[in-house]
Parts: sequence; structure tokens; C-alpha cells
Amino acid sequence: MTPIIQTEALTKVYGANGAAVHALRGIDLTVEKGEFVALIGPSGSGKSTLMAILGCLDLPTVGTYTLDGRQVQGLSGGELARIRNEKVGFVFQSYNLLPRASIVRNVELPMLYAGVGRKERRERALALLEKVGIADKADKLPATLSGGQKQRVAVARALANNPALLLADEPTGALDSKTGAEVLDLFRELHQQGNTLLLVTHDPSIAALAQRRVEIRDGLIAVAEGVA
Ligand SMILES: Nc1ncnc2c1ncn2[C@@H]1O[C@H](COP(=O)(O)OP(=O)(O)O)[C@@H](O)[C@H]1O
Ligand SMILES: [Mg+2]
Repeated sequence: MTPIIQTEALTKVYGANGAAVHALRGIDLTVEKGEFVALIGPSGSGKSTLMAILGCLDLPTVGTYTLDGRQVQGLSGGELARIRNEKVGFVFQSYNLLPRASIVRNVELPMLYAGVGRKERRERALALLEKVGIADKADKLPATLSGGQKQRVAVARALANNPALLLADEPTGALDSKTGAEVLDLFRELHQQGNTLLLVTHDPSIAALAQRRVEIRDGLIAVAEGVA
């Protein structure tokens, strides 16, 4: 079976010459379909940089990346955006919902970009809101929701185009521990349903919930643990 993520000797350099920052220095990472992996490491180790490349938000400086069978390195910005919208769902610490759009519109948006018709968009968005447990909020604006509810909307939006890969960067970082645990339960449920998840965290107790932990230090993979 083709892995969802396969990188070889991935490097990322920000800036140039004297000001160059070597954020990634040769990452070899494989994530199989259906895995739930936690990416851990101290602040500044390169987690967000790697996540941006894996999510097709940015390109590596050197090295290869294949996402669900598609070679990513060397693509144009437009091609990268298309693959991103088709194959990746994102959940960020700060939710990143559109404040003026209703909850259901927020969830519909990735489908709009993908060219899904109005009726199917609405049906699918409502089904996703049902799945994450907040169908009753469909017509509300994001500002009326609690942090935990906003993160559920973000998860529903991330699932909109049935992505090959779900990426979450510190998804519970802004939540109290009880609400955070509920959101993590949702991720575990998604894993059990066959989704492929990569969760970035600096919190070992959150990383412990994943099936496998990958540790990054100074832009290199330090430890890759097997199935717990
Ligand atoms: N846009 C950028 N320009 C320059 N340096 C950056 C940029 N983004 C990140 N860095 C640097 O790259 C390194 C890795 O950062 P980052 O990927 O954000 O780490 P983490 O998410 O693990 O905290 C750090 O030294 C950081 O300062
Ligand atoms: Mg970060």
C-alpha cells in the first residue's frame, strides 16, 4: 500500500547566507494510511515548519515529499493549493474560522473551493456538524461558540473534502484540560474510523494518546517509537 506521507532528506532553510536558519536538516518520515502519529519536540525544533510542508502550505528547500502518491516538491503555487485542498485537512490551535460566516458556511468553504455543488455542500456540512456533535449551532456565528465548540467546527471543516491526511498543530493548546480531552476523544474516534492523523504537540501526555510518537530536535528526527 502507498504511504500517505513519505519524505526523504527533507530540508528547509529560511533566509540566506549569514541570516540562514536551518529549520529542517534532513527529515525521513513515513506515515502509513490509518496511522495516528504524534509529532513532538521542544519549541523551535521545526514542528510547525514540517507541518507546513506536509500540509502543502510550503515547499521544502531540498528533498522529496510524496503525499498520498503525489510528488509535491517542485509544484507551482496553484498546483500545491489544489493538492492541499483535495488531500489535507487542518486543525490549528487558533481555530481560524471566518468570523462573518455562519458555522455551516465555514464547513462548506473547502467544498466550495473544490467545486462541490450547493446542495451537496450543505448536506455534507450538516452531516459533519452532526458527526462532531454541534449540528444545533449550524446557523450561528463563530463568536457565539465556546473554544471547544469552535474546535469541533474546525474539525468538521478539516474533514469536508474527505482528506487523505488530517494535520493538527497544538489543537488543544487554547483549551482548558477538560475541553481539550473532549477534542482529543474526537481525534481518537476519527482514527478508529480509519482517518490518518498527524498531531503536533509539545505535551507528552497528549502525545501518549497517539499510536506512535515521532520526536524532532533541531530539525532532525530523534526518536521514532513503534506502536505503543
Ligand atoms: N518564517 C520564518 N523565517 C525565519 N525563521 C523561521 C521562520 N519560521 C520558523 N523559523 C525558525 O525555524 C526554526 C523552527 O521553527 P518552527 O518550525 O516554528 O518550530 P516549532 O514549531 O517546533 O516551535 C526556529 O528556529 C524558528 O525561529
Ligand atoms: Mg510550532
